[in-house]
Amino acid sequence: MIIEPRMRGFISLTTHPVGCAQNVKNQIEYVKAAGQINGPKRVLVIGASTGFGLASRITSAFACGASTIGVFFEKEPKEGKTATPGWYNSAAFETEAQAAGLYAKSINGDAFSDAIKTQTIDLIKADLGQIDLVVYSLASPVRVHPKTGVTHRSTLKPIGSTFTNKTVDFHTGLVSEVSIEPAGEEDIANTVQVMGGEDWEMWINEMKAAGVLAENCITVAYSYIGPAVTEAVYRRGTIGRAKDHLEATAHVLDKTLSDLNGHAYVSVNKALVTQASSAIPVIPLYISLLYKIMKEKGLHEGCIEQIYRLFQDRLYTSKEVEVDDKGRIRIDDWEMREDVQSDVSKLWAEATSENLTEIGDLAGYRKDFFTLFGFDMEGVDYNADANEMVEIPGLQNPPA
Ligand SMILES: NC(=O)c1ccc[n+]([C@@H]2O[C@H](COP(=O)([O-])OP(=O)(O)OC[C@H]3O[C@@H](n4cnc5c(N)ncnc54)[C@H](O)[C@@H]3O)[C@@H](O)[C@H]2O)c1
Repeated sequence: MIIEPRMRGFISLTTHPVGCAQNVKNQIEYVKAAGQINGPKRVLVIGASTGFGLASRITSAFACGASTIGVFFEKEPKEGKTATPGWYNSAAFETEAQAAGLYAKSINGDAFSDAIKTQTIDLIKADLGQIDLVVYSLASPVRVHPKTGVTHRSTLKPIGSTFTNKTVDFHTGLVSEVSIEPAGEEDIANTVQVMGGEDWEMWINEMKAAGVLAENCITVAYSYIGPAVTEAVYRRGTIGRAKDHLEATAHVLDKTLSDLNGHAYVSVNKALVTQASSAIPVIPLYISLLYKIMKEKGLHEGCIEQIYRLFQDRLYTSKEVEVDDKGRIRIDDWEMREDVQSDVSKLWAEATSENLTEIGDLAGYRKDFFTLFGFDMEGVDYNADANEMVEIPGLQNPPA
């Protein structure tokens, strides 16, 4: 069928399989050209189908030669109805990986559940024995707690007082003011339940107990800090509390892994257009200004460049892993550079609907957003028939 974008707010109701495949191929080409890394050989990526998790899987496979297992939660296609992007990304990744002689299998289901953890551990035991790197890259608005059965929903709210600032509708370019009421205690607790470190800790504890973590094993989860303009709604808001918890969990897990001579890290990554970040108020405006400045300074990176640099310069070097005073890896170092931030905050003060296309990189934002769904990719003929019924070669059957 001919597949066109059908945008609704911060999602598209349709996804282009050929465009998604092209996006994955481009990322593979990037890491192959960037060069091999002496990295992990058996990798589990939890949240492997889009954004930073997909880039982690691609870097593991195509820069390190690793066997990879990907866990994600995506909708499969039906006749006449396209799948979600992560489905097509994973299909393309596994096709390319298998063609390159690399082991690649996937589990599609709720990573927060006991059943998916058990299925993953069984697959590791059967196929790989043990894992050298566990990447935890989930971004979800909801978590059903596996022990209590309670459904927790995360929120993106400030804490203490109402937050009012500029935001942009990136489809129309309309800059307006947004006000967000402060969170209650329950909102904070729920957001920590969904996006904090408890689930990561469950994964590592269960994997360790099952004996599937290798000697010298590393685990890494992703966090964000960001600038003053987004602080009230991000780092000092409900999601920031969850990230504090995630970062504290890294210290706990570092001790858990010590007898394996392993380590747990949080990597603070750069702000990028992903499905998760486009849903956060204020962030799209910040990103469109940040892109402009970072591109002008030759510092711009996407997920794949960020993760390649994380592996090459931080996690898998001969040097000791470089961390900040709170023990975090900072791959957001270029975003947070003083000259970058001072230029962005000047633009922030000036930004209006009238001047944003000029002073910000709204076009770059939109392009990246369309790319998430496989649209607007160079080299793809969008007038050609595309088969929506794509299969993921290494997909495992759901647990009984
Ligand atoms: N996007 C940014 O700007 C940014 C910056 C720094 C850090 N981060 C962090 O990186 C991490 C990944 O975010 P992203 O932006 O790449 O998000 P994303 O939306 O692109 O990816 C989320 C992944 O989680 C999977 N997933 C969601 N719910 C699941 C569930 N219940 N079970 C199994 N899989 C599930 C999805 O299938 C997908 O693979 C998050 O912790 C996020 O906070 C993002």
